Amino acid sequence: MLKVENLVAGYGKVQVLQEVSLHVPEGQLVTLIGSNGAGKTTTLRAVSGMIAPQGGRITLNGADITGLAPHAIAGRGMAHSPEGRRVFPTLPVADNLLLGAFTRVTGRRPKGDVQADLDRMYGLFPRLAERRAQLAGTLSGGEQQMLAMARALMLNPLVLLLDEPSMGLAPRLVEEVFAIIARLKAERVTMLLVEQFAAAALEVADFGYVLENGRVTASGPATALRDDPAVRAAYLGAAH
Ligand SMILES: Nc1ncnc2c1ncn2[C@@H]1O[C@H](COP(=O)(O)OP(=O)(O)O)[C@@H](O)[C@H]1O
Ligand SMILES: [Mg+2]
Repeated sequence: MLKVENLVAGYGKVQVLQEVSLHVPEGQLVTLIGSNGAGKTTTLRAVSGMIAPQGGRITLNGADITGLAPHAIAGRGMAHSPEGRRVFPTLPVADNLLLGAFTRVTGRRPKGDVQADLDRMYGLFPRLAERRAQLAGTLSGGEQQMLAMARALMLNPLVLLLDEPSMGLAPRLVEEVFAIIARLKAERVTMLLVEQFAAAALEVADFGYVLENGRVTASGPATALRDDPAVRAAYLGAAH
């Protein structure tokens, strides 16, 4: 569904990604793990068009989207729940969610039933249903994370990019977020999950890639990566 081939990207003259290739098949949950600064966020930014790739090729559902603007990529069905949530703080929860559906209206995919999807999100995230009129900036960190995920899902995406959904959350909320990811997986939402919390990501994922210094250094079924001594030592040790 999402294919990234030899992606080169960075900031100005700084090249961060060195020919990164990965594949997210339809209905699968693929995780990209790696240390802080490895280039995980940069990968998602290049995939969603927030930064322009300097090389390589990105295809979504067979169509070349390399170098398209973010709204055009979103319009084709790529949703991005970014690092640090980035909800619209001065707008109510409900408006944040409706904005997530905006490119469905302007894009080239079927518009669908926005109201029904809003109700579906309130079912999936009951905390958001209770707070639908509350300004997003006044939500807790965990609630803002749920809002960022729900807003991305309002696109009815072909692929959902999730950047560190567990970052900065208390353990109980981390569990809640991973339970939601597991539920989306059961509903066969195609996802690329970036996580520093590698153990939990490999627990829920089908397949994984390890990114080190902008390069993919290991990949395989999540169960195989969990058992790989080098991956265990670097990412699943006592510190993680
Ligand atoms: N806006 C930016 N401008 C310049 N360099 C950046 C910017 N964002 C990230 N970087 C650099 O790119 C590298 C990869 O960062 P990032 O993709 O955020 O890593 P990760 O998400 O894996 O922690 C780091 O060396 C970081 O300092
Ligand atoms: Mg990051």
